[in-house]
Amino acid sequence: MGRFLSTFFCLSTLFLGAAIAADWNILHQRTKNGLKISLRNYCESWRMNVELHNIQGFEVVPEECVSYIGKYVTSTQYKVDSERAIEECRLYLGTSCDLKKDGKDAWLFDIDDTLLSTVPYYKKHNFGGEKLNLTSLEEWMSQGKAPALEHSLKFFDELKSMGVQIILVSSRREHLRSATVDNLVDVGYHGWTSLILRGPDDELDSVQSYKANVRKQLISDGYRIWGVVGDQYSSFEELPSAQRTFKLPNPLYYVS
Ligand SMILES: *[C@@H]1O[C@H](CO)[C@@H](O)[C@H](O)[C@H]1NC(C)=O
Repeated sequence: MGRFLSTFFCLSTLFLGAAIAADWNILHQRTKNGLKISLRNYCESWRMNVELHNIQGFEVVPEECVSYIGKYVTSTQYKVDSERAIEECRLYLGTSCDLKKDGKDAWLFDIDDTLLSTVPYYKKHNFGGEKLNLTSLEEWMSQGKAPALEHSLKFFDELKSMGVQIILVSSRREHLRSATVDNLVDVGYHGWTSLILRGPDDELDSVQSYKANVRKQLISDGYRIWGVVGDQYSSFEELPSAQRTFKLPNPLYYVS
């Protein structure tokens, strides 16, 4: 009886979790239109639609997909997906950018999950299955222990050797400046032109407006923004835009 009750409890918890998020659940393993699918199908489709930007503004990874997302961000597939995105940057840079080499060719990068990985933090916080706790995330950032994303680091160095000005635009706040610089330098990033963080005034704006304002300023300073690499759509949206934008995978959280 006890066993039955606890099984029932588990099933009903899963059922509730899934019912809130979407159609799939442990008792009814089908899509809305009746297609029989596995949990893996369901979660892969959730992840894909986050990347396609059909799913926006999610606060947590659906409970039933936390394990799937945890596996993905620690997998070879995640590395391959990131490497491919960077490879496309390289291709574009090699074929479509008529660099003037006058000190005004620029490339923009996000920091978190673009140059540095927050996966070690999210590993301890249920892989995005918990609501963001900014205090605890900033505590972790201030320790400066985030590892580099290796493919991004290589591309960063290639841009530098081509004389492109590298500008880092992050939604991290100003008080994290020295920890951020130390962390970046520790893992091998150096020689960027500027590091733009969010000041108290910028915090009144959405991240996407803050980043658009930064691009506006850079363009009025005479920079040609050839490309942006980021893991969030808020790094690309609103005018003025860059010539090209390159999205790295990130199913852990959404910044608007
Ligand atoms: C957020 O994190 C801080 C620091 O780790 C902790 O003291 C606080 O209790 C957390 N808040 C919530 C709501 O979990």
